[in-house]
Amino acid sequence: MIGAATPTTAATAATVAQVVPTTGRPVVVELGPGTGSLSNGIARRLPEGARHIGIELSRELAEHLRSSKPWMHVAQGDAGDLRALLDGMGVDRADAVISSIPWSLLSGADQEHILEQVTASLRPHGAFTALTYVPAGRTSGGRQFRSRLGSTFDEVVTHTTWRSFPPILHYICRRPLHRPAQGARTAS
Ligand SMILES: C[S@@+](CC[C@H](N)C(=O)[O-])C[C@H]1O[C@@H](n2cnc3c(N)ncnc32)[C@H](O)[C@@H]1O
Repeated sequence: MIGAATPTTAATAATVAQVVPTTGRPVVVELGPGTGSLSNGIARRLPEGARHIGIELSRELAEHLRSSKPWMHVAQGDAGDLRALLDGMGVDRADAVISSIPWSLLSGADQEHILEQVTASLRPHGAFTALTYVPAGRTSGGRQFRSRLGSTFDEVVTHTTWRSFPPILHYICRRPLHRPAQGARTAS
């Protein structure tokens, strides 16, 4: 469920934060904020009036985030329920979704379902970022995920942070290609 040996480094957090809009009143969603190692870098870029939402599966980590980062709105829940969770907060669309959930360990059906939830939640020109370890990206689950990103987004840019152990792959995706109906999980 955690899928990580250590918290993400500052170098990774700085790369991730680049997709965060610095103007307007953006909505930024973090899927799997964990202990919040990316959250400060994201918050530093956010302008006044922005909303920073975290969706964290672990009850303990969600509680920890609520007390350590009171400026963040943390919902304890599953990224697979993203659309319903945002509806419950009165949020129509997000400008950026940043995810560090363990994608390569998920089944094909779960990868597909969560990506559908992401595309149903992003603005047309919003950005989606997914992090994975370089070795995890080479597994069958990691390759499946990369291929799914290619069929889900018009643009997928890959960046590697080598100053992290293990090194981190960033997939920075823009322009969802389709907006599938919300609802049941699909077959892999
Ligand atoms: C690898 S940790 C990342 C923590 C932090 N964002 C970082 O980069 O250091 C993955 C986090 O995703 C959470 N997670 C895993 N599956 C999830 C899901 N389906 N929905 C929401 N959070 C999930 C885990 O509880 C864990 O906190």
